[in-house]
Order: sequence, then C-alpha cells, then structure tokens
Amino acid sequence: MAIAIITSGGDSSGMNPGIKRFIEYTHELGLKSYLIYNGLEGMIDDEIKEADIADASGIIFRGGTIIGTSRSKRFFEYEYRKKAYENLKKRDISKVIVLGGDGSFKAFDVFSKDFDDITFIGVPTTIDNDIALTEYCLGVDTALNVIRRSCDEIRDTALSFKRAFIIETMGRHCGYLALVSALTSGAEICLIQEIKYDLDSIKKRLQQEFKEGRKYLLAIVSEGMEMADELKEWIEKELHIESRVTILGHIQRGGNPTVFDRLMAYEFVTHALSTDLKNRVVVFNDSKFEYKTFDEINNCCYQLKPSLLKLGKRLSR
Ligand code: F6P
Repeated sequence: MAIAIITSGGDSSGMNPGIKRFIEYTHELGLKSYLIYNGLEGMIDDEIKEADIADASGIIFRGGTIIGTSRSKRFFEYEYRKKAYENLKKRDISKVIVLGGDGSFKAFDVFSKDFDDITFIGVPTTIDNDIALTEYCLGVDTALNVIRRSCDEIRDTALSFKRAFIIETMGRHCGYLALVSALTSGAEICLIQEIKYDLDSIKKRLQQEFKEGRKYLLAIVSEGMEMADELKEWIEKELHIESRVTILGHIQRGGNPTVFDRLMAYEFVTHALSTDLKNRVVVFNDSKFEYKTFDEINNCCYQLKPSLLKLGKRLSR
C-alpha cells in the first residue's frame, strides 16, 4: 500500500508545510509515499514521483506549492479520470491526500464515486476561506497578513496625500478576506457580497468625520463585488476627496507561510494521514479537528460567522 499527496486549484501558503509534514510522517510510519506533480493535470499525465525525505527540506518557509498545481477541465471527462486512476493503481496507491478548495473537492467526490478502491482525504486549502463546514482553510492567515501589510503601507501614502484608497481583495464568492482585513486594518468602508450596503448612510457618516478632521480614508472591497472603480467615482463625486484604486491581486496568494499556517498544515495533514475513514475532508471548528464527507461539504454553502457580519455592518452603512 502507498499513499500520495496532491495540491489542486489555487495555491496558498501552507501547502509546502503540508507537503513537508506528509513526507516526514509517512517516512516515520514506514509507508511508501508519492508526490503528484501539477495537480489534476499531472495525475492524468502520470507526473507522479516517489517522495524522498530530502524533498521535505528547505520548503517550510516557502509560499506556493513545490509540487505545482492546476485547474483541470479534462478531469471532468471520465476517460481522463480513468487514466488518472490507472496511474495511481499501478503504484499501488490506495490513499490520496488532497490539498485544495471546493472545486477540487467536487472533482474528487466524482472520482471517488467512479472508483471506490482509493480513498481521498481533503484538507481545506484556499486563501478565500470559503469552504463550507470549516472555520479555517489553510493559507488564510498568510493571505490576511499580506493584505494587512499592504493596507498599513497604503495608509502611509493615503495620509500624506489626504486621499481615499479603495483596496480590492481576492474572494470571488466570499467576502471573508475583505471583511477581516477591513476590521483589522481600521478601514472606514467595507463592501462585501454578504452585507447589504447603504451609500447614503456611508456618505452621512463620513461627511461628519471629515467635518471633525478626518484626513484620508481606506475602503476595502471584495473582488466579487466588482465595484472598486465605481466606488472610487462615488467617493470623488460625493465626498470630494481624491481617490485611487489598488487591486492587490495575486500577491495575496504568495509570501512565507505564517507560524499559524505552518502549525495548521501540520495538524491538518496529521489528521488526514491518521484516519481510517474513507473519502472525507478534515475540518476545523471550535478549536477541534473533525471529518466531513465530500457530500456534506459540497452540498452546503459557506457562511460568514454572524459575529463577524455584525462587526462589518457598521462599515457598510
Ligand atoms: O484561490 C482562490 C482565488 O485566489 C480567488 O480568490 C480568485 O478569484 C481566484 O483564485 C483567482 O484565480 P486565478 O489564479 O486562476 O486567476
């Protein structure tokens, strides 16, 4: 019996510490282990190599994933899933640890229903923190710290020029990064999909603050809102303050994993390797790790915590 690891979909800092733990722990247990390179595409194209203990060195502090990743359209065709299955079977791989997001979990759910003699254990890994039934996804803390650093830096120039800055964070379907960043960076405005905003009330609040001496402002908007430019125009017209837009983009996916992400990677992967359950996702809630089925995760929608939403509301009106 052998065991493999794959990183799939958007990379996030935390993947490399996870790979390190995988290599070291499987060696400790005396298990044959494999690295699947370049995500689902590599699994189809047989880019699979036996892991050497040396592969684990010098990677814990690196962002991204040393084994590469991909988003695969081919994997949604049975013919290619069968190829991938055969590549695993010929190496006697009976368990695969999947570091990925909701798209990857959907793909592996289909795969596990096609071929039931290989077990897949998911570790929620995405900077968006948008996977249902888990409070934390690997890489989120590092991304939040990248955003926090950028906001601190932008504040310097915002204050010097007395300007408004509209900062767009990643998050296609989920405003978690924008909301937590707005709260922890002291932004004045936060617009995310999950909170209804009220521009009239924002205007009144900020007009009052400018009257009282406010010199600049930071607004954080989530990518999914697609309204950074619109908000800039609105601020210039309604609040009469010169504005600039900064789209943080893919820098949010890079950077050295934080201490928290390194530790979480170790815990997530240890739990993934330790279970005898079939086809599960390791989740983290109320400071505890547990397991959910792919169906449970895929059929449920991620929701922001009510306490966070409550805090965010005052920045949206
Ligand atoms: O991994 C999630 C994510 O970073 C989203 O926040 C973002 O919308 C998307 O990936 C970007 O994808 P790509 O790297 O393919 O441009």
